[in-house]
Amino acid sequence: MLYFFDSMGMLTTVGRKGRSLRAIVHGIADTAHPLLVQIIPTRRCNIDCGYCNEYDKVSPPVPTDTLRARIDKLAELGTAVVAFSGGEPMLHPDLDALIRHIRMRHMMAGLITNGYFLVPKRIQELNEAGLDFLQISIDNVEPDEVSKKSLRVLDKKLQNLSEYAAFDVNINSVLGGGIKNPEDARTINIRARELGFSTSIGIIHDGSGRLKPLGPLERSVFDDVSAAINGPWQIFKNLYSGITNFQTNLADGQANEWRCRAGARYLYNCEDELVHYCSLQRC
Ligand SMILES: C[S@@+](CC[C@H](N)C(=O)[O-])C[C@H]1O[C@@H](n2cnc3c(N)ncnc32)[C@H](O)[C@@H]1O
Ligand code: SF4
Repeated sequence: MLYFFDSMGMLTTVGRKGRSLRAIVHGIADTAHPLLVQIIPTRRCNIDCGYCNEYDKVSPPVPTDTLRARIDKLAELGTAVVAFSGGEPMLHPDLDALIRHIRMRHMMAGLITNGYFLVPKRIQELNEAGLDFLQISIDNVEPDEVSKKSLRVLDKKLQNLSEYAAFDVNINSVLGGGIKNPEDARTINIRARELGFSTSIGIIHDGSGRLKPLGPLERSVFDDVSAAINGPWQIFKNLYSGITNFQTNLADGQANEWRCRAGARYLYNCEDELVHYCSLQRC
């Protein structure tokens, strides 16, 4: 019986990697479709991170039929990947049905969550719905007034994911934006790799999308964690998250010599159905 479930899990993983590879090849060969669309099922959030301007405490969930229609439109545009963000997307009562709808329309389904609701039953329901990948960004080891997306609070949820998730899991750690102890990013990255997840590192920006250059300690943690993400064997696990070159100039306060493709290959579809360049510049 165990062998049967192992085989099913392997088939699911192989199927997902195959679809992912097809999306990459098609994305390079044909540039006339969006690669990734983030869609907002609710602006409401259950917590309040000090650096975040993307949530409120009152918004109702976007009606499920409205979201289905938006997903259909994204399918017509040839979108490769649709990822739920928010607010906290796991507060939407019909999230699993919407994930099923994305998969039924032959797109990949992702979820960006604060991780608070990831008990074993919810993870198994997400498996059954056909979720392809999930990302949690963990800000610090101990909760404080800036953030409660903390390893201490979320470690049990990470263990649940490690045991039950049939989808890919990426754990992002962050620097900047008032996070007090840069060493926390290293601790979080080590724990995530220990549990078998892919990992990434990000830099927190201000409300206009700008980043402050990293200080010397932050910069050395950034280099160490980036090296671990791109280390031997990790490079296969971190196929997407290992693309950190674009952040190195930003970490030094320098511009990159290319233009962001937001608005073309990447879209941010807010709760009011407007399309924005990115989550922070919603004007
Ligand atoms: C707005 S949240 C919504 C989904 C979910 N509530 C979560 O926290 O993952 C999406 C992502 O944006 C990140 N984020 C929010 N504000 C940010 C900022 N000022 N700079 C960088 N990342 C930010 C969060 O850490 C999270 O990874
Ligand atoms: S980052 Fe996510 S969890 Fe934190 S306040 Fe914003 S929406 Fe909520």
